[in-house]
Amino acid sequence: MRVPLIAGNWKMHKTVGEAVDFINQLKPEVADVKNAEILICPTFTALYAVGQAIKDSKIEMGAQDVFWNTKGAYTGEISPLMLTDVGCTYVIIGHSETRGRFGVVEEGMTPALQAYFGGTDESVNKKLHAAIAAGLKPIVCVGETLAERNAGKADEIIQSQVKNGLAGITQEQAASMVIAYEPVWAIGTGETCDTPEAERVCGMIRKTMATLFGESAAQSMRVQYGGSVKPANAKELLSQPNIDGALVGGAALKVPDFAAIVKSA
Ligand code: 13P
Repeated sequence: MRVPLIAGNWKMHKTVGEAVDFINQLKPEVADVKNAEILICPTFTALYAVGQAIKDSKIEMGAQDVFWNTKGAYTGEISPLMLTDVGCTYVIIGHSETRGRFGVVEEGMTPALQAYFGGTDESVNKKLHAAIAAGLKPIVCVGETLAERNAGKADEIIQSQVKNGLAGITQEQAASMVIAYEPVWAIGTGETCDTPEAERVCGMIRKTMATLFGESAAQSMRVQYGGSVKPANAKELLSQPNIDGALVGGAALKVPDFAAIVKSA
């Protein structure tokens, strides 16, 4: 039985004070939740304080990105060790707002998606290995742009992101992986991938995992859906057999909305 993982990706929102207030308000709301794992991914600057605030609760904490070396002359980067040090158990890797899509600017993309911070399946893979080595649980994001979808290439793109992003991990590591399917055109746009299609793609990701790492690993790993998840659509999405959780952006910034999504799992 796969326990759904409901994760809030706060992106570049909330000061330390706002982050701690959120956690203190969320704690009583989710105190009785038993059938879901609850994860909050704050900005780097709020990690330490949130790590302290979640101590007497079932809320877990993740970072929004990580670098692959433990230490060194890498200005602006954060190592896996620094994340475990402040209490992270998870880390998001390869979010489309950090991956970069050279030459692809589409109508409706948020400014961050247009900014091309760089990042490829190769850097995703290096980050993944470093995160696993440090004991972090990775959430690897995959997903196609609108142009790729319209060209009929969505499945092919996602399969290659899974294959290349996860290259070199063991069957055992694959079994505890989380992959988040986030269609780029559904992120921050209010546009949701309709439920049958989200379920189809999440099932396709599980099949790809079975081909790469065996059926048993594919059945234990979790596939999240992300992209305009809100209280109104969460129940339907989360009741699909191949959707094992949600990676929530905008709706994770307000306690009542996020708590409602957690409770619909
Ligand atoms: P929204 O829920 O705001 O569309 O963001 C999704 C996302 O990118 C989560 O990582």
